[in-house]
Amino acid sequence: MTRQIVHVELGARGYAIVIGSDLLAEAPAIISQASQATHVVLITDTHVEKPHATTVAEHFADHGCRVDLMVVEPGESSKSVEMADQLWRQLLGTATDRQSLVVAVGGGVIGDLAGFVAATYARGLPFAQIPTTLLAQVDSSVGGKVAINLPSAKNMVGAFWQPSSVVIDTETLTTLPTREYRAGLGEVVKYGVIQDAAFFQFLEQHVEELNARHADCLRQVIARCCQLKADVVRADEREETGQRAILNYGHTFAHALEAVAGYGELLHGEAVSIGMVCASRLAESLGLVDPSLTERQVELLAALGLPTGMPTCDRGKLWEVMQSDKKVAHGSLRFVLPTQLGNVKLVADIEQEKVLAAMA
Ligand SMILES: NC(=O)c1ccc[n+]([C@@H]2O[C@H](COP(=O)([O-])OP(=O)(O)OC[C@H]3O[C@@H](n4cnc5c(N)ncnc54)[C@H](O)[C@@H]3O)[C@@H](O)[C@H]2O)c1
Ligand SMILES: [Zn+2]
Repeated sequence: MTRQIVHVELGARGYAIVIGSDLLAEAPAIISQASQATHVVLITDTHVEKPHATTVAEHFADHGCRVDLMVVEPGESSKSVEMADQLWRQLLGTATDRQSLVVAVGGGVIGDLAGFVAATYARGLPFAQIPTTLLAQVDSSVGGKVAINLPSAKNMVGAFWQPSSVVIDTETLTTLPTREYRAGLGEVVKYGVIQDAAFFQFLEQHVEELNARHADCLRQVIARCCQLKADVVRADEREETGQRAILNYGHTFAHALEAVAGYGELLHGEAVSIGMVCASRLAESLGLVDPSLTERQVELLAALGLPTGMPTCDRGKLWEVMQSDKKVAHGSLRFVLPTQLGNVKLVADIEQEKVLAAMA
């Protein structure tokens, strides 16, 4: 069976990401190589429970582990203090201790929530991830950021908590709703634009396989994305030097769109798709790139079934939301803009007029 391994090199906190198809049966063996737990707590949501998490639970039981399966409601609202509290209590009730291992089986919501609970319970439990959305496989399961939301602030309470291993089974994507799958492709395209022109070209040449969720193609694409993100994370694990900021390409626009269009209207990856086009237009207006770079992105994103045009919404409100992003960036609104395919730079203090024009 073909599989690829990406090593996230973070010294003592380093770990391997194993990517292939039909890997769930081997997940216990792979995960136990890095962590010798005899008790496993699987955290999942109701969409993932039946098709995948119960299978994983059976495999861990066959492997000789005591297994507890904890199932939460799907959706962003589960990344809450209340849900973390419920899970902490369930951990207490199942005699979980530092010999136990928490395993997230699900999308980014489950990865962030389970990771947060693992990071905080008993001052930190070992943690592994079996991500089941494309977004989680190429983005949220790499890098160690875990978090829950406060009612008015996303990801406000969290930690950097690296997993001991990540197992990515591309077969799990066969049950993912089309819209969620495509949204993940938005982040995939992002890596090409910010870091790897050859990878962008590979995507252009494999649109059909991608749309058909072809296992071989997915394995290669996911492995490349994990490697690219791992490179950035290694250089700036705790987001201190600004290098990790390049991953936010398209995201300043996307966050504003998500907030103004209303959460739930646009999926994150869809907003990122539109946001990348806006960022590329902004780069054009500053003379950094020529229009053909934007056109290439529009064509690829559209071929992958992603939106690229701005929805009708209040531009003034978009600008306001972007201003609140400033707090995060120490007082200046910085955009990640392409300089050529495979390369971006941070640009601060861009006039409002130019930013609004990029959203036309
Ligand atoms: N930690 C990080 O670095 C990081 C990075 C990016 C995003 N995130 C977080 O990730 C979250 C979004 O993740 P997401 O897009 O995976 O959303 P999600 O976890 O909500 O999953 C999307 C939907 O797909 C369902 N699902 C998951 N896997 C499935 C499968 N294999 N088959 C059928 N249905 C399945 C889920 O139940 C859910 O309804 C956000 O909370 C975001 O903040 C974190
Ligand atoms: Zn994103």
